[in-house]
Amino acid sequence: MKASAPGKIILFGEHAVVYGRPALAVPVTQVHADVEILDADSTGIWIHAPGINLHAELNTLPSDHPVAAVIHNFLFLSRQSPSPFGRGARGEGGFPNLNIHITSSIPVASGLGSGAAVTVALVRALSAHLNHPMTDEEVNAFAYDIEKLHHSTPSGIDNTVVTYAKPVYFIKTQPIEVFKVGEPFTIVIGDTGISAPTKESVADVRKLWEADQARWESVFDEVGEIARSAKEKIETGDWRLLGELMNQNHTLLQKMTVSSPELDTLVEAARKAGAAGAKLSGGGRGGNMIALAEAKKADDISSALISAGAKNTIVTQVS
Ligand code: MEV
Repeated sequence: MKASAPGKIILFGEHAVVYGRPALAVPVTQVHADVEILDADSTGIWIHAPGINLHAELNTLPSDHPVAAVIHNFLFLSRQSPSPFGRGARGEGGFPNLNIHITSSIPVASGLGSGAAVTVALVRALSAHLNHPMTDEEVNAFAYDIEKLHHSTPSGIDNTVVTYAKPVYFIKTQPIEVFKVGEPFTIVIGDTGISAPTKESVADVRKLWEADQARWESVFDEVGEIARSAKEKIETGDWRLLGELMNQNHTLLQKMTVSSPELDTLVEAARKAGAAGAKLSGGGRGGNMIALAEAKKADDISSALISAGAKNTIVTQVS
């Protein structure tokens, strides 16, 4: 059984979204996590993830290992609410023998949602292979629980956009809202090549907020306004006006201390090469930035990003 989940980028609103403000995120289908599950001849649940050099039986991994945690949680769930034909937890707590192959083209800890994508692809492949059907809502709730294990206060935006694979206007604890794109537009993604765990930047923003809540609540309000206004412009097809909003959002992210010299260099290079606007995307401190471009300028912006030190670029259309 095979399952796949896309990467994602946050267009507007990262970090402030953790504090209840709206954010916009879209799937990036050029990169994805893929999981294939086959019955195994040898006893146990064997995990093969060559990209992270992992070949191990489930029980030899620490239970908080990101992949092991997904499988343990799924098996627990399948035992708690057995489906009529489910093969999740057979008989006396015995489990099926499986070979699980995981590959991903989404760079790790780069703001493209690699963790959420592996979780979603893995739980979908498990649910299909073990005949334990799950709705998108159940997959999303499951993936959110896993995100909480990795950083204590996730907003839930990453698992939501990756699960539904649609543009999402996201407000924590509110039902998901998919937004319409009035006129498709192009985004160039530039990777600093620096892996930066979201957990750390989220924890640092929390420290700032704890020390001066009034100041940061007002910064988050500004970000929320930007996200609201961006949604309107996207829906009415006025995407050209998003550039300035991206620049303003980047300045506010710099204030939150989540940019970095490398991100700022790429953002500047994109603007100089003709982008309508640019900002970091995701947790920050490393990982990826995004630039808004007219389609015909996308290649020039990509080249400028590579010359300025980007390790990789992706051109994607938001539609
Ligand atoms: C990470 O992709 C987005 C953050 O806002 C964290 C979160 O929403 O959980 C930085």
